[in-house]
Amino acid sequence: MFSDACISVTRILIMAIAVFVSGTGTNLQAMIDDADIDIEVVITNRNAKFVSALRRCESAGISWISYLNDMKNLEKYTTEIFEERNVKLIVLAGFMKLLSPAYVERWKDKIINIHPSLLPSFKGAHAIEQAFKYGVKYTGVTVHYVDEGMDTGSIIAQQTVKITKRDTVETLEKKIHKVEHKLYPKVIKDLLK
Ligand code: GRF
Repeated sequence: MFSDACISVTRILIMAIAVFVSGTGTNLQAMIDDADIDIEVVITNRNAKFVSALRRCESAGISWISYLNDMKNLEKYTTEIFEERNVKLIVLAGFMKLLSPAYVERWKDKIINIHPSLLPSFKGAHAIEQAFKYGVKYTGVTVHYVDEGMDTGSIIAQQTVKITKRDTVETLEKKIHKVEHKLYPKVIKDLLK
């Protein structure tokens, strides 16, 4: 007499992300340091020599591609690579270029960005300094989906940062980055669940 055999197959689902950077890459480092985040590839639009984020990739053995000032090819080839490698989420971390409406549409709800203010206040490249100069008592960090606009997509998560009388732009910047480095990996993992 034979009993039914039950074979259980465990599938390991790897949820890979791609990260777009243009500069220092401290947020990228926070992702590299998180054992539960799998970075497939890092993309930059700048000359690789000047993107210190790429040195972090080299230390961590992560491949990177530079499409120097070539957004058209960046969008074309990343779409091919991401489809082929089953990339689930495109994470912008200090990426200083707007993506085209067609690309944003192709990857709708799959591209996220982190911004160092409580959006919709202080959009753009100088958010920390502007919030400080404006004299707001609270600023913070926003993670949002990317749409065709600049820092305009729908908000996924926000965290406040208090500005005290003792703060300078530099100390505020440090406080904001500390929050970013915890919040961004957490949001990425939540979205991949
Ligand atoms: C971060 O402050 C992020 O909010 C903004 O660009 C900065 C990137 O810093 N979008 P880093 O390159 O991750 O150090």
